[in-house]
Amino acid sequence: MTKTDNLLKEKDIDALLITDPYNMRYISGFRGGEGVLYISVNQHVLITDSRYTEAAAGESDFTVAEENREHKRIDILKECIERDHAKILGYEDCSMLCSEFFKYNQELDMEGWVPMGQSVNNLRQIKTPEELEYLRKAESIGDAAFTAILNFLKPGLTELEVAARLEYEMKQHGAEGFSFDSIIASGVNSSMPHAIPSEKKLEAGDFVTMDFGCLYKGYCSDMTRTVVIGKADEKQKEIYDVVLRSQAAALGVIRAGLKGCEVDKVARDLITEAGYGKCFGHGLGHSVGLFIHEEPRLSVADQTVLQANMIETVEPGIYVPGFGGVRIEDMVIVTEDGCDNLTHSPKQLIEL
Ligand code: GLY
Ligand code: MN
Ligand code: MN
Repeated sequence: MTKTDNLLKEKDIDALLITDPYNMRYISGFRGGEGVLYISVNQHVLITDSRYTEAAAGESDFTVAEENREHKRIDILKECIERDHAKILGYEDCSMLCSEFFKYNQELDMEGWVPMGQSVNNLRQIKTPEELEYLRKAESIGDAAFTAILNFLKPGLTELEVAARLEYEMKQHGAEGFSFDSIIASGVNSSMPHAIPSEKKLEAGDFVTMDFGCLYKGYCSDMTRTVVIGKADEKQKEIYDVVLRSQAAALGVIRAGLKGCEVDKVARDLITEAGYGKCFGHGLGHSVGLFIHEEPRLSVADQTVLQANMIETVEPGIYVPGFGGVRIEDMVIVTEDGCDNLTHSPKQLIEL
């Protein structure tokens, strides 16, 4: 039994080739990322090289086949296909390189190739209790790092120094890595939602937006807080208050049964009515799991009906070029009657 058994029937394929490293991990437990899975009713084979074979045997209950110069990946795949007399192979068209597909297509003598679209990724949308536990722990590491950074922030530090300290704190609290490059954006830089940390020094009066996440047992955390160095002025307070109310409104409605676009609308309408609609360009949120940006989204375009045990971020923002910006981001588990917020860091405006 694997998580993809039903897909073999649904897609009417004899075997499935898994090449996406996150799907490989999700299906087989293999953490190395470099290799492929061959899955049929009769065979569950993980093909990887000698850098990973020993670890793979411990991580996965798939049969591990070592690829090397004498026994190439393509030859191992041919053997798997021959044993099964497989004729139709499913492949991951959404993540495979064109060059890889051409190579497999040329060298494997299949009668048919079936693109899997999002069907394998979609298996990851509803999280298991174990996955939820890892996501909860990952987000708690983010909370601990945020608590620590509040004692560290002061004028004169560069954005890069703040990023380094946040990342140090996440590692100190048990992170095995980071789910994306930390975003530290101060002053005018904070109007860029995905600003890259720079040598700019924090100054009195700056907004400082910190968007960061870590990995715990492969699962990503994601949170954002915006603080002010020194005293906030009236415009900063106004913008902050609108974003905070927008987030509270979305957190108040999100639950299983609503569409992603319906939750986005609640947050977006509030920002638009406050006069800042044009300053909120991105979607309200996204799912998170082994990868930082997963489906479904909370966005204008996403019609997916949310289900219990999906994860979503709720991250409205207002960005005013030349002035600055605010984003506040929590990560929640969708439940039947609401949500379980995994992010516990304070959200009232913090002036340092
Ligand atoms: N760090 C990117 C995001 O929050 O989605
Ligand atoms: Mn984020
Ligand atoms: Mn996010």
